[in-house]
Amino acid sequence: TKLDMELAAIEKGGYDHFMLKEIFEQPQTIYDCLRGRLDAVHGNIILSGMNQYAEQIMNAPRIIILACGTSWHAGLVAEYIIEELCRIPVEVEYASEFRYRNPVIHKGDVIIAISQSGETADTLVAIETAKEQGAIILGIVNVVGSSIARKSHAGAYTHAGPEIGVASTKAFTAQLAVLTMIALKIAHEKGSINNERFMHLCKELADIPEKVALVLTQAEAIKVLAEKYKDATDALYLGRGYNFPIALEGALKLKEISYIHAEGYPAAEMKHGPIALVTDTLPVVFVATKDSYHEKVVSNMQEIKARKGRVIAVITEGDTISPTLADDVIIMPPADEIVAPMLSTIPMQLLAYYIGVAKGYDVDKPRNLAKSVTVE
Ligand code: AGP
Repeated sequence: TKLDMELAAIEKGGYDHFMLKEIFEQPQTIYDCLRGRLDAVHGNIILSGMNQYAEQIMNAPRIIILACGTSWHAGLVAEYIIEELCRIPVEVEYASEFRYRNPVIHKGDVIIAISQSGETADTLVAIETAKEQGAIILGIVNVVGSSIARKSHAGAYTHAGPEIGVASTKAFTAQLAVLTMIALKIAHEKGSINNERFMHLCKELADIPEKVALVLTQAEAIKVLAEKYKDATDALYLGRGYNFPIALEGALKLKEISYIHAEGYPAAEMKHGPIALVTDTLPVVFVATKDSYHEKVVSNMQEIKARKGRVIAVITEGDTISPTLADDVIIMPPADEIVAPMLSTIPMQLLAYYIGVAKGYDVDKPRNLAKSVTVE
């Protein structure tokens, strides 16, 4: 009825879809996630939900991350960050695979379970399996009081608020914010990074909400790009290092929302076969922000251009090389590579959203998908 329509419009805060509202909420939700925990001025990170297990986490022989979908992508980013800062070996596992393969779990292993809904059956059963074998379970969950939160020994909530859109956006960046704080706190207490780098990264993290707001000002430009590429039948998303999981996440967003087949890939892996796919009608999205991998990513971009691929590049302002190669660029503010994924994922979300809308699909409720996969 008309009233329902009006109520729905109020719920969407004036946005056309919950997904767009949630994408635009991210400066606030990341800020809410950091508030009361990150004190970048004095260099202090408070994660009270994990204090009880601080010793075990710091001295963990290894960390196993269990998740599904977008949350699994957050786990991949966390693997790079934790190994780089904390020097603790990390394995990231699809929860659905982990639970059925009779995994090797040692007492004292630390499991990080990442889940927006906290009800994903695969993740829930996986942590029960690990718990029975003596692992310590840390839950990184958005829904307070959910099953995974309750089954965990400790953890931290992402405080992103209710996420209505089936495609996860603000929960993902909040997961990254929490995981980065966990890695920073462990590294600082272990002394595996010096105080100067710790203070720098705390400041970089504190600056993210403002930089996300800056990236969101490009929404209209990304909408124009979506019009240009909406009829693609396939797409490739490429990245390296911290941005490789963001390439995977960009591909998943596009699949979920626009039903275009898309694949995320490590940029350097293309030459081992997939580069045979490149033609002048194949859009290739490069997540190529300025970081320690940048030169290599640029040469991967050259390889694609040499084969007439159409390149959309997410780059850092001041990058003068990529614009000479790419057909289209989306420019990010500078940020340390450890926190850059929270920025480079924003264009991925917007591109998928606007392509889905341009194709006339129900982006809040894509076909065949449920918000929380509570069945196996
Ligand atoms: C992400 O956009 C999808 N909706 C889906 O992959 C989701 O991330 C996955 O089902 C995991 O859900 P969870 O975070 O609630 O456990």
